[in-house]
Order: sequence, then C-alpha cells, then structure tokens
Amino acid sequence: MEKMRKVLAVCFAVAFMTVLSGPAQAGPIVIKYSHVVAENTPKGQMATRLKELVEQRLAGKVVVEVFPNSQLFDDDKVLSAMLLGDVQLAAPALSKFEKFTKRLQIYDLPFLFRDMAAIDRFQQGPQGQELLQAMTGKGLIGLGYLHNGLKQMTSNVPLRVPADAKGRKFRIMQSDVLAAQFEALDAVPLKAPFSEVFTLLQTKAIDGQENSWSNIYSKKFFEVQPYITETNHGVLDYMLVTSVEFWNGLPDDVRTVLKECIDEAIVHNNKVSEAKAAEDRAKIAESGRTEIIELTDAEREQWVEAMKPVWKRFEGDIGAEMLDAAVASNKN
Ligand code: SIN
Repeated sequence: MEKMRKVLAVCFAVAFMTVLSGPAQAGPIVIKYSHVVAENTPKGQMATRLKELVEQRLAGKVVVEVFPNSQLFDDDKVLSAMLLGDVQLAAPALSKFEKFTKRLQIYDLPFLFRDMAAIDRFQQGPQGQELLQAMTGKGLIGLGYLHNGLKQMTSNVPLRVPADAKGRKFRIMQSDVLAAQFEALDAVPLKAPFSEVFTLLQTKAIDGQENSWSNIYSKKFFEVQPYITETNHGVLDYMLVTSVEFWNGLPDDVRTVLKECIDEAIVHNNKVSEAKAAEDRAKIAESGRTEIIELTDAEREQWVEAMKPVWKRFEGDIGAEMLDAAVASNKN
C-alpha cells in the first residue's frame, strides 16, 4: 500500500511539473521546398533567397530546406506529396496543374501574351490573383507567381516554319494544351518529367522540346540539340504553392512573416529572370554548340497561324472573360 502511495505521488509530481513547464518543445517548423531546376536559375535563386530570409527573420521558429534538381520529387509527384504532408513548398510550371484545375490552362495558350510585361500585368491583375485560389477546393493554395521566361523550341532539325515540325516528336510538360499545340503542327507530343528531358534528347528518343533560355542552358539541352528556334511562343512561369492544411495550421505571426519573406523572394526572382534569360541566351550563342534561328516576321506569322486555333478548343474550360483579360494585358 505504502509503495503504491509513493508511485502515485511520483506520477502526480511528474504531471504537475509537465503542466508548469508547458508542452514539450517541438522544435522549429520544417518547410521542405522541392523543385526540379538548377540552383542558378531564377526559381533556384528564389528558393535560396527565401531560405536566407527565413533564417534571418524566423530563426528558431522555421527552417526552410531546399531540394533542387528533382532531388526530392519530380513535378508529376510533388503535388500529391504535398497533400500527404511530405513537402510544404513547390513551384511547378503553370502547365503542371491540370489534374487540379483546368483554369490555369490559359497560361499555355500559344502566342497569347506579347511579352513578359503583359504576363506580369495579367498575373498581378484581378484575374491572375483569382487564379491563385483556383485549387483551394483541392487542398492547394497559390502564394504567388514566379517568372522564368518565354519558351523557345529546340530540335535536331532546323525549324523555320511549322511544316518543319511535321511528324517530329517533342517532349512536353503535363498539359493537354501543349499536346494540342504540337498536334496543330502535325507533330507528336510526349508528356515526360523534366528530369528525363536531357536523356530523351541525347538518345534521340525525341526530336525536340520547348523550354526557357535558362532551362535550355542550365540543363545543357543546347549541347544535344543542334538548333534552337527563337519562337517566344509561350510562357514558362510558375505558381508557388503549399497545402491549405499546412498554411492554415501555421501560427498567425509565423504565417505573416513567412508570407513577407516569400513576397520578397518572389520580387527577387522576377527581378533576375529577364536578365538571366538574356545572359543564358548569350552563353548558348557563344558556345557554338547550336544554331539559334531567328524568325522573320513572315515566318513567325506562320507559327501564329498554325498554333492559334488551339485557343478555341480550350476557351470553354478557361472562360471567355479570362481570355479577354489576358488579351487586354497586352496593351499597357
Ligand atoms: C521547370 O522549369 O520547373 C521545369 C520545366 C519543364 O518541365 O520543362
């Protein structure tokens, strides 16, 4: 009996001490940020900047761990991993959200935006901001847009006019709009993850692909593709996303400071992206490994004519109002 009393007394003492000292220290919140590109690209630099800002402003409370180059997840897996809580931040290309919403298809329509300034106007305007919330019902929330740049076509044959692409196989991102774009050229699209593109090109399993200057340079696609046509036919931008559950579960003060860090890192991304595209284009040109084909106005017009019918096919899912707003963003 006496022994039992002692045991109970010890239990009460431990419980009392626990109440006094509060819950066990959980340690900082860990944010895994997974992306597929190299560290020296705009998105890679954004991730590094975010990590640094969080280290300065949320020391001891939040830690950002960055996983570049598809080290943790490829873009075809990362969003389901996010919903399972295995990763907290990712910024897939806007073409890679089709499973979650068809509304972002607008960004894949060929020759829709005149330049990056028009894209920025659209993204920062009411429709662009509304699209950040397009996937909340599916558990994902958009925290902002990151620019990379306009897309170019790389190929193992010179592509001057749309007929040159006929029958050729091109890797595309997971997007039915991009598939339709290549089908409009009578070419064959192949959906494949970014991490497989270099090997597909090197082994000649495909003839070409479309990408931004920074991706063509940093992933060395130009070393295995003798021609790059400067088409500027579409945009390669990103949406930084997290899960609604993770975001809403953050303490209010942490979420506020984290959002400020994210906004600043995005400003940095969007400031460097244009210069990076020009710089990487120049390095590719200087390399002598590939020929950059610049189109005449008449040749470019042929690409526009061949690809623009794609708009009609997707207008229903995208919405006519959204499309009008995007077209209007071309006027400054
Ligand atoms: C990326 O820039 O994140 C990847 C683009 C691609 O899959 O081509």
